[in-house]
Amino acid sequence: METKAPTSKNVRRTVQISNVTARPTAVTMSWIAIPISAPIPPCLSSLVAKFPRIDCLLARLTTVGGVYEATWGRAFSTLYDRLLAATEDAGLRELRRRTLAQASGQTIDIGAGTGANVGLFPEGLERLVLAEPDPHMTKRLRRKLAESGSSAELVQAPAERLPFEDSSFDTAVFTLVLCTVPDPAAALAEAARVLDPGGKLLFVEHVRAHDRGLAQWQDRLELPWKLFADGCRCNRDTVANIEASPLSIEEIEHGEMPKAPPLVRPLVWGGASVGAGGPQES
Ligand SMILES: C[S@@+](CC[C@H](N)C(=O)[O-])C[C@H]1O[C@@H](n2cnc3c(N)ncnc32)[C@H](O)[C@@H]1O
Repeated sequence: METKAPTSKNVRRTVQISNVTARPTAVTMSWIAIPISAPIPPCLSSLVAKFPRIDCLLARLTTVGGVYEATWGRAFSTLYDRLLAATEDAGLRELRRRTLAQASGQTIDIGAGTGANVGLFPEGLERLVLAEPDPHMTKRLRRKLAESGSSAELVQAPAERLPFEDSSFDTAVFTLVLCTVPDPAAALAEAARVLDPGGKLLFVEHVRAHDRGLAQWQDRLELPWKLFADGCRCNRDTVANIEASPLSIEEIEHGEMPKAPPLVRPLVWGGASVGAGGPQES
């Protein structure tokens, strides 16, 4: 995990613990972190010195985002597969498989979550990297990889800062991630950076509705949905974000996420590449 340099904006209570490296809360939770300026009492400082890992716990609990991450954030990762099960069975899994069939060579699945895409990639990839920043999701992902016997590599890293050299991959994948990343423009620029110039981005994303009435509901319910769904923005215009990025959409299909709440039903899937021509809508 990356640590932000302390600035007046992001200094949190944890940073004030003397001689202890503050461990950041998950990047995923940065949207909800609120600084708390009360000083840590000396008794806690000595506890930290005795039990080094306690600083991690304090880091998690001394922000609103930290409490969220340690409670609902954790529960959400536990429930995630169950919450999506009916949707996957009703067609999402098949859509993932069809989209991922275009993956080739060295492939990175960014924001891999609990591993919904594990087992859906085509045979014969040279390399498969699963990147996921959230520790609770990562735990489940690690377990799924072990159970499936997959040889995929697991990297705990956010989409905005992937620990790979430029042009390292032939395929990058986002499935249901560009709605959640705190900085979609940075995530897309980073995907473009790690992609080979001839490489491809594959995506399956729920998006802002074309229908004005539904889009208004997505705007009204953005905050409660974000709190429920671990940072997901139901009203995010991901297609516009991809179009504004260094990637160009080559193919895009529009449909609906089956058996999903209306707020996150509008779905797009397709492929984009670095500097390619305009989209072919279907
Ligand atoms: C709705 S889940 C989707 C998981 C998986 N890709 C799937 O298709 O089921 C959103 C995922 O984005 C991850 N995420 C949140 N912030 C992220 C970031 N900055 N970089 C990469 N992934 C992030 C979350 O931890 C979570 O695993």
